[in-house]
Amino acid sequence: MAPYFRKLRPFERGIYLSHLRALSSEDRRLRFHSITSDEQLERYAASVDFEQTVFLGAFMEGALVGAGAVALHSKTFDEAEIAVSVASQVRGHGIGGTLTRRTLRIARNRGSRSVWMFCLPDNTPMQRIARRLHGQLSLHQGTLDARLELTPATPFTRLGETFEDGVGVARSVSDLVFGRVA
Ligand SMILES: CC(C)(COP(=O)(O)OP(=O)(O)OC[C@H]1O[C@@H](n2cnc3c(N)ncnc32)[C@H](O)[C@@H]1OP(=O)(O)O)[C@@H](O)C(=O)NCCC(=O)NCCS
Repeated sequence: MAPYFRKLRPFERGIYLSHLRALSSEDRRLRFHSITSDEQLERYAASVDFEQTVFLGAFMEGALVGAGAVALHSKTFDEAEIAVSVASQVRGHGIGGTLTRRTLRIARNRGSRSVWMFCLPDNTPMQRIARRLHGQLSLHQGTLDARLELTPATPFTRLGETFEDGVGVARSVSDLVFGRVA
């Protein structure tokens, strides 16, 4: 079944944490750039400020299979940092690329003009995603920084986000109604 995408709400910290905890230690290293224990993941999920960070979830059959985090910097949100993760069993089907593309639009719609993605040099899939989105990659203290310049939001980008939010919520409701909730 095709994935659908919708934003996560603060009360969904628990499913986000479960998604992170299911990542292998190698995936946690790629996502957080360090060996990250279950306790550290719990602290991270508990401390996230949903006003400053927008989470976009990818769902299949009611289960969260991927997430993109858009951390908006400063009060004006003129810069943002994006990081994504996808469950290992559903990789290679474009979910990571779609999450990244849509999180970029979320940043753009909030006024961000440049977005950073920090990849480890051995993270080929993430670098391919960044290159495909025309990110400028530069090596900095052991991380490959991908910087993407964004043009200002337009009514189309705002409508696109609103429309896709609606589709995602409708699919979630359908999963609830038909009992497809993990
Ligand atoms: C990076 C990650 C999100 C990609 O998710 P995904 O759903 O597999 O992404 P996509 O299917 O969109 O594939 C992305 C690209 O990587 C390529 N790719 C996928 N698996 C690959 C692999 N094992 N080796 C090399 N390239 C690979 C795909 O072909 C695609 O490139 P293309 O668009 O040029 O064909 C996922 O691997 C992940 O969660 N990794 C662990 C956490 C992480 O690294 N997060 C990023 C932190 S910045």
